[in-house]
This record gives sequence, structure tokens and C-alpha cells, in this order.
Amino acid sequence: MDGRESWIEQNRANWDDRAALHEAAGYGIDALVVDRTRISGEVAQDRDRLGDLTGLDVIHLQCHLGTDTVSLARLGARRTVGVDLSPQSVNGARAIAARCGESIEYVESDVYRAREAAEGDFDLVYTSIGVLCWLPDVAGWARVVASLLRPGGRFLIRDDHPMLMAVGEDASDGLRLEQPYFQRDEPMTWDQQGSYIETPEGAPPMTHTRSHQWNHSIGEIITALLEDGLMLDSFEETPYSAWCPWPDLIEREGDRWRLRESPDRIALQYVITAHLPR
Ligand SMILES: C[S@@+](CC[C@H](N)C(=O)[O-])C[C@H]1O[C@@H](n2cnc3c(N)ncnc32)[C@H](O)[C@@H]1O
Repeated sequence: MDGRESWIEQNRANWDDRAALHEAAGYGIDALVVDRTRISGEVAQDRDRLGDLTGLDVIHLQCHLGTDTVSLARLGARRTVGVDLSPQSVNGARAIAARCGESIEYVESDVYRAREAAEGDFDLVYTSIGVLCWLPDVAGWARVVASLLRPGGRFLIRDDHPMLMAVGEDASDGLRLEQPYFQRDEPMTWDQQGSYIETPEGAPPMTHTRSHQWNHSIGEIITALLEDGLMLDSFEETPYSAWCPWPDLIEREGDRWRLRESPDRIALQYVITAHLPR
């Protein structure tokens, strides 16, 4: 296995462990099961951007446990497909969709092989929160996005901003630029117990703690999409994040976190919509 294959394989093992933790922690799953009209907070905030999905074929890349995939199906999609690298995530997502009463196809695949792994073309490619940082090459990813869309098809990504990713985790001394902002070949490698949720009591320790991430600048992301023929429809940067990167400096507002003081200093998340011309 060369560097890239081995990094992705270690990420797969790490995500299998995280998926088990997330399921044990609840991850908003029961609420989707109990209320069959409910959609996740992530998808809800883009409801206007997503528009009416009635009768559309939708694919969700890096779908994890599929809480957002279930939500896309509930917005009326005719066919909903979720793709993820981690078998534990995909198996969990299948069971959750069944409990939610939604018919969803889940495919276990590296996102770079999603074109071969998923049959047919799509009207919407969706991906959100904590996605591009796991991918070594943003140009290759954009090629896959374009190849999945039929002419006129739409694309939406909401993700952590590369500025957030560039700032170090230890903010006790203020925010410091510690990680690259631009894409590099070599990953940033972490060795950590736990995930971005609070570890549920009694959960066994993770056995695959090493993971690898890459940052991609906003310019690199948009350029990659344009080079593969997508047309940009909207681009928004927000001062809030979906999770808490720096506990000492951040305050919570509902499902969002922003800097307590002068939140306009930094963008923490971005949303891009684009389409493939007819
Ligand atoms: C942070 S999660 C996405 C979470 C999602 N927003 C949610 O809350 O359900 C990232 C997902 O990307 C998946 N992933 C990481 N690298 C991948 C790759 N190369 N191909 C496909 N999926 C990948 C992981 O298995 C994980 O399920």
C-alpha cells in the first residue's frame, strides 16, 4: 500500500471506531425514528437552497450514519443514495434508514470511486460538515462530483472553513495559525482517542486512533469545481461552526458555535451551490 492508500485505509478504520461511538451516543437518530417528518438540523438550514427534491435522484457523499441522507429522502427525493468509506457507518446507516421507514441505497466506497460504485446519474450531489478534510486531493473529488451529475444537475456543499482548519486546537493563548491553509501532499496526522461528540459512558476505547487530514483553500475548492465544468450559483462564508473547535473562546447558539468576542474575525463554515449546465 502506498502512502495515500495507507492513509485512507487508516481513516477507514478510525471512522469505523467513530461510527460505533456515534451510534452509542445517540447522534440524533431516535428523534428521526420517532418523528417521520423530522429532518436533521444540517439539512434543515439548507432547505431553501436545496429547494423541492420531489422526483429527483439524489446522492449524498460521505454520508456517515445517514441522518442527513434520511432527511434528503424526506424532502421528496425519488431515489436517495448514500456513499461512505466506512463499513460500520454504512451498515449503521442501513439499519437507521430501516428504522426511519426510508428506502435508501447505501454504497460502501471511497469517494474517489463513487462514480463506479453508484449506478446512474443524479439531479443533486450533496455533502456536508467534516467532509473535504478527509480527502487528499480536491481536484479528483470535484471530478467525481461532476461525473455523478446529469446535465442541469445541482451540487451543494456545506463544510468547515479551511481557515478553521488552519488554526491550532490549543487556543489557550489565542488563535494561532498552525496548520497549512493550502492543500499539501502530506497529511496532517492525529493520534487521538474519541471523536467530536462526548464519549458515551462505558464505551470501549477506540482501537484505531490514527487519522489523516488535508486542508484545501477556498480558491482550490472553487477552482476545482469550475475546472470540471460546474457553474457557481452561490458562495457564503459564515462566522459559525457546527461544532466547538476552541471551548475557551466559543459560545453556543442552538446548534451553532461562534467566537464569543468579535466573531467577525474569522469564517468557520462555508456553503457553495453550483450546477452542471444543460
Ligand atoms: C464527519 S463525517 C460526515 C458527517 C456527517 N456530516 C454527519 O454528521 O453525519 C465524515 C465521513 O466521511 C467518511 N469518509 C472519510 N474519508 C472518506 C473517503 N475517502 N471516501 C468516502 N467517505 C469518506 C467517513 O467514513 C465519515 O463517515
